[in-house]
Amino acid sequence: MARRDDWRERLTEADVAELDAALATSRRSGKATRELSREDFPLPTLTHKIDRWRGEVATGRGFQVLSGVPVTRWSQHDAETFFWCFGLHFGTPGAQNPQGDLLGHVIDTGESPELVRHYRTRVNINFHCDAADVVGLLCLQKAKRGGQSRIVSSVSVYNELVRRRPNAVDRLYQPFMMDTKGEGGVQYLPVRPCRYDGDHLRTFYHTDYFRSAVGFRGQPLLSLEDRIILDLYNEIAGSSDLYLDMDLQPGDIQLLSNHTILHARTDYEDFPEPERKRHLLRLWISLPARTPLATRLRTHRSRLGVAATAAGFKLGHAIRRATGG
Ligand SMILES: [Fe+2]
Repeated sequence: MARRDDWRERLTEADVAELDAALATSRRSGKATRELSREDFPLPTLTHKIDRWRGEVATGRGFQVLSGVPVTRWSQHDAETFFWCFGLHFGTPGAQNPQGDLLGHVIDTGESPELVRHYRTRVNINFHCDAADVVGLLCLQKAKRGGQSRIVSSVSVYNELVRRRPNAVDRLYQPFMMDTKGEGGVQYLPVRPCRYDGDHLRTFYHTDYFRSAVGFRGQPLLSLEDRIILDLYNEIAGSSDLYLDMDLQPGDIQLLSNHTILHARTDYEDFPEPERKRHLLRLWISLPARTPLATRLRTHRSRLGVAATAAGFKLGHAIRRATGG
């Protein structure tokens, strides 16, 4: 895949002109970004390309990179409006945290990685999935050093694991406890890394948060056998013949299926000026074919029957939805 470039597509001049025209239309609507609909951001031609990219992400290679979004010419507000509306055309953007943020900012907030989810820090993030069908990133600014994206097919990792240790894969169909970093008032949630959706393997994996989940008495929740499996899984995912590195540039969009692609990010160093900090916008997108959120929410609420804050439920629901648990 590293020798191919058909996973990257550059927007044409006509595409960019259509985006500028759509931004002008959205401004005339007078609506706040969150209130905009697809009709407020018309993409008569690009919609056909978006259909193709969605198909590639959902049922093709599992990822797509676009380049040439004119973020250096636009204001940050225009970039936010564009990406939000791109998400509306691609699928249904969903909440990324208990605060209900629909358009996330991936930026180092200076908080401790021990206490918050790692996208708010500049530490290395090991292979994982996000709790949505698709995660989309729009790069606004790069780091001074590092912050590279690494992706790998979870299907390829699984196949190699079966080849090396066929008896080990059964454990991946049983829940691991995943650290929530306390979001939503719960400390950890059970997550099954692997499941089948018809004939298709679906994976939800999180290297760091499976390992950092501890019980209420501070005890690790992993057995020695669990740690051996996670180590092997990571070793395979980290094979240079399986992963693909990409260095996102300002104006690049990366779209990944969380069901079939794991992603990681190297640690980074920011420029000293606050206005030059590494900054990406992030969308968590549900795709149309999946069960509407409200239906599944009711189902899970009645099944759980435990005290959980609404916010905690939202995060738990998002994870269970992504894992089919
Ligand atoms: Fe992520």
